[in-house]
Amino acid sequence: MREELLAFVSNRGTLLQPDAIEFLLTQRDPVERLEAFLGSCPETPFVVTLDDVMRAGEIARNAAAQISTRAAPPTILAEAFIPASFRRLGEKAEDREPDVRILRDITGHSTCEGTLADFTRYFRHRFQVLRNMLRSRHDLAGAQEIAKARRSTREVRIIGIVADVRTTKNGHRILEIEDEADRIAVLLPSESAVASEIAVLDEVVGIVGTVNDRGLVIAQSIIRPDLPTVKTFHGTRHHVRAAFMSDIHVGSRTFLEDKWSKVSAWLGSADEIAGSIRYLVVSGDVVDGIGVYPRQDEELVIDDIYGQYEALARMVADLPDRVSVIMLPGNHDAVRPAEPQPAFPTSIQNLFDSNVIFAGNPSLLSVEGVRILAYHGRSMDDLVSAIPGMSYARPLEAMKAMLRMRHLAPIYGGKTPIAPEAEDHLIIDEIPDIFATGHVHAAGVDQYRGVVLVNSSTWQAQTPYQKMRNIEPMPARLPIVDLASGQAIVREF
Ligand SMILES: [Fe+2]
Ligand SMILES: [Fe+2]
Repeated sequence: MREELLAFVSNRGTLLQPDAIEFLLTQRDPVERLEAFLGSCPETPFVVTLDDVMRAGEIARNAAAQISTRAAPPTILAEAFIPASFRRLGEKAEDREPDVRILRDITGHSTCEGTLADFTRYFRHRFQVLRNMLRSRHDLAGAQEIAKARRSTREVRIIGIVADVRTTKNGHRILEIEDEADRIAVLLPSESAVASEIAVLDEVVGIVGTVNDRGLVIAQSIIRPDLPTVKTFHGTRHHVRAAFMSDIHVGSRTFLEDKWSKVSAWLGSADEIAGSIRYLVVSGDVVDGIGVYPRQDEELVIDDIYGQYEALARMVADLPDRVSVIMLPGNHDAVRPAEPQPAFPTSIQNLFDSNVIFAGNPSLLSVEGVRILAYHGRSMDDLVSAIPGMSYARPLEAMKAMLRMRHLAPIYGGKTPIAPEAEDHLIIDEIPDIFATGHVHAAGVDQYRGVVLVNSSTWQAQTPYQKMRNIEPMPARLPIVDLASGQAIVREF
């Protein structure tokens, strides 16, 4: 537990006083307790004291009360632990017109041709939007352009895109950051609190520091756009529920047909929770696809792409009529792989019943007025390899990192192909009420500063590729969120 706690601390870029460590280790869940405290701080503190962690329990209770009593802190709950209130409060979903709007996605708006000018314009847009967010932070008020800050002899505040990250022989870390006109090296001294701060390539950060006589910025703090405050969950009046799925991988020999039959039967059953589910958000990798990876044909039971979507369409048609399905593509699906991905072409859409609404990846949705940011989650491949302590088993941490960076896929040129559109659709511009991802075949619910986080499992067993890489999936879990309160549970099948 000690190692886990220390890894968490270093990952969050803060330090723990020795007596705070000892105190936390006596608690039931030290990481959760510390996280509750950090979540209540507007800025990650350099050092967390014993006093801080002792107050953490109280802070967590107050924060929950602030979010209103409606937003109970969601946790992963096995079926046996689903609170009785969740069952009791559920209202039978009616079979009526769905209230779903796609507020933002790339479908029909793609302009990019992949030219050099496109790239320049794309990054300029990313920088400008995130710089504006950072400028509104009080600790970056009056931030200067790099060229001007370079000549300053006092404290400087600058904003730039991370162009390089390296570690020196002496253990210092150096970030190269650049704005529209200049580029400067920022030193994170090894003995300072900022040394453990993780920065990834192409994210936009603010730096507070001083310039030394060699023109190097010595950083005191790194500031991210982040979610500035704990937000209130803007819920529906009635206890309507949305369930979340992804990574069904129909067509693969490891698709879990028996588990699917179970969830499908449960959704159509008389169970009160099942009956309260009105919406089903399906965040990509809905089929296994064709030619997605080498020798995939050996893993397929349906080797025709339309055959795969037809099989899925039959499965979806068997779901109860009251459930409206919102479906977006992932990296296994038959749309362009570069993100943002548009919704499925009409040739695929036409295979499905009218209760399916097709959206792009990512999409900002309004479901009965609740804002849901749905993203398949490919960028987690890059975040897991770039950030020490991140793992495929803990996607909710990667999702929090995305919210802190206010970007779904900050790292350019990694495993996540990004299309340089005129505007950066991967910026988390508007703060959603619910943020949903898939892709890593894990499952869980959590919250970050009032935003409900959902990672939506898979309906595929461990693949030979995952076995080779020692990735243990968590299949056949169904996260369900109450759209009135934001309360979230995970039901296992
Ligand atoms: Fe997948
Ligand atoms: Fe995926």
